[in-house]
This record gives sequence, structure tokens and C-alpha cells, in this order.
Amino acid sequence: MIELGVNIDHVATLREARKGKVPDVIAAAKVCELAGAHQITIHLRQDRRHIQDHDVESLKHVLQVRMNLEMGAADEIIAIAHRIRPHTVCLVPEHRQEVTTEGGLDVRVQRKRLREVVSGMHDHGILVSMFIDPENDQVDASLEIGADFVELHTGAYANAVKKEEVARELDRFQRCGAHVAKTPLGLHAGHGLTVRNLAPVAMIPGLLEVNIGHDIMARALFIGLDNAVMEILDILHECSEW
Ligand code: PXP
Repeated sequence: MIELGVNIDHVATLREARKGKVPDVIAAAKVCELAGAHQITIHLRQDRRHIQDHDVESLKHVLQVRMNLEMGAADEIIAIAHRIRPHTVCLVPEHRQEVTTEGGLDVRVQRKRLREVVSGMHDHGILVSMFIDPENDQVDASLEIGADFVELHTGAYANAVKKEEVARELDRFQRCGAHVAKTPLGLHAGHGLTVRNLAPVAMIPGLLEVNIGHDIMARALFIGLDNAVMEILDILHECSEW
């Protein structure tokens, strides 16, 4: 079955709005875990706008499922990853002004630096995923620098409105997925995925994992977090059997 990583950053965003203790990020992670999520994904940003260092520490102790730490390749965050040793890190581009991660990492251009980062993670027993746009040359560069997975950015597909645009982005995604399948890299996908647009992505051969945050949290307000996780798991289950 395609596995689900639930991104709980948005729970921390709500907590940080009042700089208090609620909603409890750790409790949210445990609810996702109990509902069947295979992984908890968190992004420790340099500006600490949502997830805080103490969240990463606590989650490391209480999670029974994998922790996937999204991060920019900044020395300070790299040192934290080396110390905490999440199961996986997902390297993402990070810009201070952005609302969320916009666009994939340019692995091709930053090859030298990222090769060192990947190698350092491996030395600490951490697997590495590259968050990239669905472009074959970025896949090839990720392979070249020793990454374990690529997470293809589904933002352009998710934001497409017109039918032809959606079909074009899906086709781009499928072609890149087929390219990944010819390599030893594991295939992940994420960003902007929802109960409504997930199925076509989940049918892509070889897809191992999706990471979903905003839609799950938005629906959780109305149907509860456990139900919001379970309805995504149902879609993944159906698509995995297809
Ligand atoms: N994957 C990565 C690498 C991300 O940066 C994000 C957003 O934090 C997600 C997945 C989840 O995106 P969304 O919140 O739109 O589901």
C-alpha cells in the first residue's frame, strides 16, 4: 500500500498564533498515528514559525511510526537532524517570505553542497529525500548525489484549474514517475494533495508515499482528525489495489 505521511505543521501554526500550549502538536501526531498514518512529517523552519525544537525532541521520544523531518540545508538545522536522527529528512528549499514551500529544490545547481549534506545524513543513519519539481534532470541529479528518495512536488498539479492544465500536469508527473522507476530512487509525492485530487496521483506506478498536511487539517476541523486521516488512507488503499 502507498504509505501516508501526515504533515502536522499546521497544528503548530495554530498553537504559535497564541504562543501557548494548544492545540497540542504531540497529541495531534498520536491521533494521526492511531488513525493509521505511517509517518509524521514536520518542517523545522529556520524562522521557527510553526514547529519548535522541543516538538522535534518530544516526537522523537513518543512516535511509534517514522518521523520525516523536512528541512532546508542550513548548518544549524543539519546539526539538529544529526542529533535527533529522524528516520528520514526531506530536503526542501526555504525562503523566509514564502507562505509554504514554493517549488522544488534545484539539486542540479547545488549538487556539490547537497552531496555533502546527504553523505552527512547517511553517516548518522538517516535516509534522505529530495523535494523536487517533476523534472528528469532533477531526478538524475538526486541520484547522482546519493539521495534515497525523491518527493515530487505536486503543487502545479494541485493548483491547475482548467481540465487541460490538470491533464498536462498529471502527464508531466506520470512521465517523471516513470523516469524515477528506472532508477533505484524511491518515489514520493506531496504538496497540495486533497481528498479530491489524490486518486490520479496515487495510481502512478511505483509510488511509495504521499505527504499531506493542509487538506487533512482543514477537513479535521469539520470531521475530526482521525476521520480526516482515515479518508485519505481509504483512497490510498483503493488506489493501491487498482
Ligand atoms: N511535502 C513537502 C516537502 C512539503 O513541504 C509540504 C508542505 O509543508 C507537504 C508535503 C504538504 O503539503 P500540504 O500541506 O499542501 O499537504
